[in-house]
Amino acid sequence: MANTILVGAQWGDEGKGKIIDFLTETADVVVRSQGGNNAGHTVIVAGKKYVLHLIPSGILRRGKMCVIGNGVVIDAVSLAGEIEGLRKQGIRVTPRNLMISDCAHLTLPSHRALDRAKEVAKGAGKIGTTGRGIGPTYSEKAARTGLRTGELLNPKRFAARLRERLVEANRQLKAMGAQPVNIAAESRQYLAAAKVIAPFLGNTVVFLHEMLDGETHALFEGAQGTFLDIDHGTYPYVTSSNTTAGGACTGSGVGPNRIHKVLGTIKAYTTRVGEGPFPTENQELGDFLHGLGREFGATTGRARRCGWFDAVCVRYAGIVNGIDELAVTNVDGLDTMKTINVCVAYKLGKKRLDHPPTDLDALARCVPVYETFPGWQSDTTAAKKWADLPPKCRAYLQAIAKLSNAKLGIVSVGPGREQTILL
Ligand code: GDP
Ligand code: IMO
Ligand code: MG
Repeated sequence: MANTILVGAQWGDEGKGKIIDFLTETADVVVRSQGGNNAGHTVIVAGKKYVLHLIPSGILRRGKMCVIGNGVVIDAVSLAGEIEGLRKQGIRVTPRNLMISDCAHLTLPSHRALDRAKEVAKGAGKIGTTGRGIGPTYSEKAARTGLRTGELLNPKRFAARLRERLVEANRQLKAMGAQPVNIAAESRQYLAAAKVIAPFLGNTVVFLHEMLDGETHALFEGAQGTFLDIDHGTYPYVTSSNTTAGGACTGSGVGPNRIHKVLGTIKAYTTRVGEGPFPTENQELGDFLHGLGREFGATTGRARRCGWFDAVCVRYAGIVNGIDELAVTNVDGLDTMKTINVCVAYKLGKKRLDHPPTDLDALARCVPVYETFPGWQSDTTAAKKWADLPPKCRAYLQAIAKLSNAKLGIVSVGPGREQTILL
């Protein structure tokens, strides 16, 4: 296996965690390089469910190394909880299989509080964030006032700096009419979590280069999706990091010349959590999927908005990320459909568009042009190889790949590791 960047090519929750877990079998190191615990990656192994937020999904396979890179924002309390939770599920998490960059920025309790207060202040114009403090953390990183993981190694100095940041945030929270954070209680909890994290810290850039100089293969696990990218997404209804392929390089300190392949993950339809435009959104499809108990968020439990597959978006994701191959998940979600719509272009007034407009108002006025495909109306969840899939299902998958200008690489027909078809 080559060094591969895996990105979400829609609005997140494409099934990245599941595909990473599958591919980790032939990889040596799995790297997270952006986002924070806003991510929720669900992986099901032997019927047991694991939800990863900050730790790469590679952790579920023994003998594999996981790295949390410099571009990730880390809430130490959340990460300490995640490590403990995995250990309780019988997963080994030690500095021998997890290394955390000492340059990653820290999400503090004040960032969580500010995230929520800002959403309240926005009222109807809210973004619908996960409330995990992601925006305020990246804001402070860019403003050069943030705290980094490396500072946890000097607990005394860190305690003083944490207090400074919390006092400053409380000033802002009070000005916004929001509840200030309890500095003593929050600091105590944060410093306790810092102790759990400290042994995992190191220079991940040097570590990764030493690994890649050998015969090792790296997988870069994207979080969120292309249209949540701070530059290329539906701004301002986006997250605060670069979720596209370039983010994997800056967020890990691995140069583009080391990357051999970009794999775009998509659902066979589309989902989105939070506010913002979604041209192919379809209430009926949403009601149907929710009725099956599907499409509830792994991080916040919110019902995901659902819609038809949007080839206009995925085509655009193809050029922004340089996608070589597609992994299509949740194909089984469409198993009982009589007919399936695919958006092949947008109509904006009289104009036909092949790419989504960057202007949000224009995007909101776009009307999807659909092509309708016959459903296969049979169960795909036991399919083990391409030939096991019903002909109409194969035709649908080939069509969405062609419309997206990409090659089909992987097809997923269920949440389990074994429900994956490598083409
Ligand atoms: P991620 O954030 O991209 O890793 O995706 P999530 O884990 O948030 O959401 C994807 C959901 O779909 C999870 O509940 C997965 O267990 C599930 N999933 C992934 N692939 C498939 C599939 O092919 N079929 C079904 N039924 N579920 C899938
Ligand atoms: P994974 O990695 C889906 C969405 C939020 C909101 C916007 C900004 O599981 O695919 P933030 O908390 O990041 O400031 O929220 O981004 N969002 C996600 N949607 N999957 C995710 O991650 C997401 N992470 C953030 O719902 O619309
Ligand atoms: Mg998710």
